[in-house]
Amino acid sequence: MSDPLIIFDTTLRDGEQSPGASMTKEEKVRIARNLERMHVDVIEAGFPIASRGDFEAVHAVASVIKDSTVCGLARALDKDIERAGEAIRPANSGRIHTFIATSPIHMKMKLRMQPDQVVEQAITAVKKARQYTDNVEFSPEDAGRSEPDFLCRILEAVIDAGATTLNIPDTVGYNVPEQFGALIKELRERIPNSDKAIFSVHCHNDLGLAVANSLSAVMNGARQVECTINGLGERAGNASLEEVVMAVKTRQDIFVCNVDHIDTTQIVSSSRLVSGITGFAVQPNKAIVGVNAFAHESGIHQDGVLKNRETYEIMRAQDVGWSDNRIVLGKHSGRNAFKTRLKELGVEFDSETELNDAFARFKELADKKHEIYDDDLQALVTEANLEAENENIRLVSLKVCSETGETPHAEITVESNNKEYTATSTGGGPVDAAFKALESIFHSGSELLLYSVNNITSGTDSQGEVTARLKKDGRIVNGQGADTDIVIASAKAYINALNKIQADADRAHPQTGDV
Ligand code: KIV
Ligand code: ZN
Repeated sequence: MSDPLIIFDTTLRDGEQSPGASMTKEEKVRIARNLERMHVDVIEAGFPIASRGDFEAVHAVASVIKDSTVCGLARALDKDIERAGEAIRPANSGRIHTFIATSPIHMKMKLRMQPDQVVEQAITAVKKARQYTDNVEFSPEDAGRSEPDFLCRILEAVIDAGATTLNIPDTVGYNVPEQFGALIKELRERIPNSDKAIFSVHCHNDLGLAVANSLSAVMNGARQVECTINGLGERAGNASLEEVVMAVKTRQDIFVCNVDHIDTTQIVSSSRLVSGITGFAVQPNKAIVGVNAFAHESGIHQDGVLKNRETYEIMRAQDVGWSDNRIVLGKHSGRNAFKTRLKELGVEFDSETELNDAFARFKELADKKHEIYDDDLQALVTEANLEAENENIRLVSLKVCSETGETPHAEITVESNNKEYTATSTGGGPVDAAFKALESIFHSGSELLLYSVNNITSGTDSQGEVTARLKKDGRIVNGQGADTDIVIASAKAYINALNKIQADADRAHPQTGDV
């Protein structure tokens, strides 16, 4: 029997550090539920000291997730560790992940500390974290540019202090696979108590090598990989969960560990959820989760695949959750058929009221669109979640006029704090006019950083899924909306973003303003 490879997902923490990828507490809980359904071992839910919102998100994830370990990040500081310890308290299984930089450049220029002080602080931090949980992970930040002798010294000391996982980050994505694998091997061989901890890796993708470096580390004894859905993360991102998992699963002939516990059929839905929430589109040719990942355009390939799938396919699309997107329901489908199909897609309702609301939306959609696909159903559920988030502002009605030779204009009515407001505006197009009308009501003064429209299925009757990314006082939020009318979807997305701006506070970044 080979060892299971521990999958540590940091989409909600490192993924969220990607500029513009901010998530609300409710969105984090939704993603965490998907990850739990996938049987991901550890979910790093955030950096609790960063802000009240981050703390609450980690606490909320720790309260609802039962089967995965929930982890909170903390610098090697008492106040960070106390906050992380509080945030993970409700978890069935909770972990504190504490870190301090160990590369000469980080110690000298960022921390302004001597190596001896760094070792002392790491030991103190791990001991402190052990007061909250016996599941403590330690990371020597920028390990990929640290001196191996110093790494051996600090890692031996933190194992003695009680660290159970040693995570080796290539923080700036500088390493190459052979060298990074050799580093893991060297650390395991040279640290006398290395058998008392699990070796983990955390690779960034600045040179496009995050997955390759992670897999090389696994071949050299790492038994935990830190990764994110769609490879989301700081700068060029982190190692992508779907690529790491599917590489280990597909190449069981060469890996001596396995990912048998991971339900890979949840990968595509998680990818879509993360991309929808963050507004970070997945490139079509992205491995595993890109829309073209299993598409065969060339005649030779198509011919081969028809004769025998394995001529050109090394994985089955269904194994990662690509459905054939069949027409599942229509206008005459009943509540039971609706509920059953959503259950098959992994969506369950917490109450009869939620189910009834979703069914009412489905009927409304079925009136506009005859063929309802799986993707439409998932968008309906997202839409219901968004409405629940829109606590302050709600769209009541929208009328737009767009005519050749005329200036487009919009009239919008919204409800806010039990009062209705109506405004009209002209604009470059109907969407621009609708956004300007909204601004004339709320004067949010925010900057529109991104506006994108995606069709959920094919065909002109498809629902459009819109992301509107707004920036206000340095804080970035992503609003989403879906509708068969893309102007209405756009207004919903803008309103969702305004609601998030009203609900949000400033927060800090884990790797700046250090110790
Ligand atoms: O990239 C990094 O070094 C990190 C640490 C906090 C593990 O994200
Ligand atoms: Zn990182």
